[in-house]
Amino acid sequence: MLHSALERLKLKGKSLLPIVQGGMGVGVSAHRLAGTVASLGAFGTISSVDLRRHHPDLMVQTGRSRDKALIDAANLVALDRELIAAKKIAKGNGLVAVNVMKAVAEYAAYVRQACESDADAVVVGAGLPLDLPELTTNFPKVALVPILSDVRGIGVIIKKWMRKNRLPDAIVIENPRYAAGHLGAPSTDALNNPNFAFPTVLEGTLQLFKDLGLEQENIPLITGGGIHTHRQVVDLMGMGASAVQLGTPFAVTEEGDAHPNFKKVLVEAKPEDIVTFMSVAGLPARAVRTPWLANYLEKEAKLQRMAKPKPCTVGFDCLAQCGLRDGISKHGQFCIDTQLAFALAGDIKRGLFFRGSEKLPFGNAIRPVRELIEYLLTGLRPALAAVSAPTVRLEPAFAPA
Ligand SMILES: Cc1cc2nc3c(=O)[nH]c(=O)nc-3n(C[C@H](O)[C@H](O)[C@H](O)COP(=O)(O)O)c2cc1C
Ligand code: SF4
Repeated sequence: MLHSALERLKLKGKSLLPIVQGGMGVGVSAHRLAGTVASLGAFGTISSVDLRRHHPDLMVQTGRSRDKALIDAANLVALDRELIAAKKIAKGNGLVAVNVMKAVAEYAAYVRQACESDADAVVVGAGLPLDLPELTTNFPKVALVPILSDVRGIGVIIKKWMRKNRLPDAIVIENPRYAAGHLGAPSTDALNNPNFAFPTVLEGTLQLFKDLGLEQENIPLITGGGIHTHRQVVDLMGMGASAVQLGTPFAVTEEGDAHPNFKKVLVEAKPEDIVTFMSVAGLPARAVRTPWLANYLEKEAKLQRMAKPKPCTVGFDCLAQCGLRDGISKHGQFCIDTQLAFALAGDIKRGLFFRGSEKLPFGNAIRPVRELIEYLLTGLRPALAAVSAPTVRLEPAFAPA
């Protein structure tokens, strides 16, 4: 367990270090990463998407199958196993959450399984989880945490949930300008909208709480996207955040659950290699321009012009709405499950590697989770002499765009 002078994150009766490890699919944040983060007293998150890929026996049953029901069942078994394993590592410390994407077809089944398998929290991104309170009525001890990007979205969720006598136990505010993976903006053009700047969203949300008569401390706000220095953590907490969420810096830790090549691609990416484009799920996304992505982006416009409905390429039907399967020309035109699985397995040529836009705390060094959390809490860097990590400048907090 680690200790810190920074104020603790109070969540559903737990007192945690103010550091949240964001959920990362496919398989990038599984039991090892989430369990290690929790074991140190912080908030660890398992991504629920397609976790069977970490279980060779489940892949023998389903790897070549086009039977959606069989694949879905294997993924629920995998989620249960991953939660048990993460909790074993955590030894009762911290918090182990499950991240579920609203855009995924089996969203409700993953939420139910997470609750039944004893997750401490369910965190939902990639869409507005208006129905989360009903889905979890029988599990009042499970914390509910939506991921949103602007005050408007936060207002919609809080008002809808209030009518169901439920409030979020915390809210993740993710800035699409910097974050990795799927981004909470309508299009790539909208990513730099000043409405997403942390000071604007924090101030607007605190005002919203006042207008609705809500106590601020009952709904902690967790800011995420591009955070990579201790200074930013201190500044954001000074502006009203109760914790910070990081994705990319955790993905590249020693305990990150993806293949070492995955981490290599992320740490070696230069700013000009990091691109945004439309995902097949209908949201903008940010990733590293690896050979597959460069090739896809060259053909994207043509593929979009030719888009028409067709059966799911792998029979998994992972998304509720899929640009490729449903022939939606303004969405991406590739199978995201296939490409993310290649990345997880370390296939640099064929994988899709999600990454945030900002520098990493330890440059290109792969370090243990403990050192990352210690640095975020104290500003003290581990000795990186043995590796060729560039020194990272301490920067002021994000200013409104
Ligand atoms: C490889 C990778 C996969 C991700 N997958 C998901 C996901 O499945 N669901 C989700 O809500 N967020 C996902 N994210 C976003 C992170 O949880 C986190 O909010 C975001 O990365 C924060 O920005 P940062 O990477 O700049 O720290 C992913 C991020 C990465 C790097
Ligand atoms: S084609 Fe679309 S729905 Fe089918 S597995 Fe790929 S991303 Fe999912």
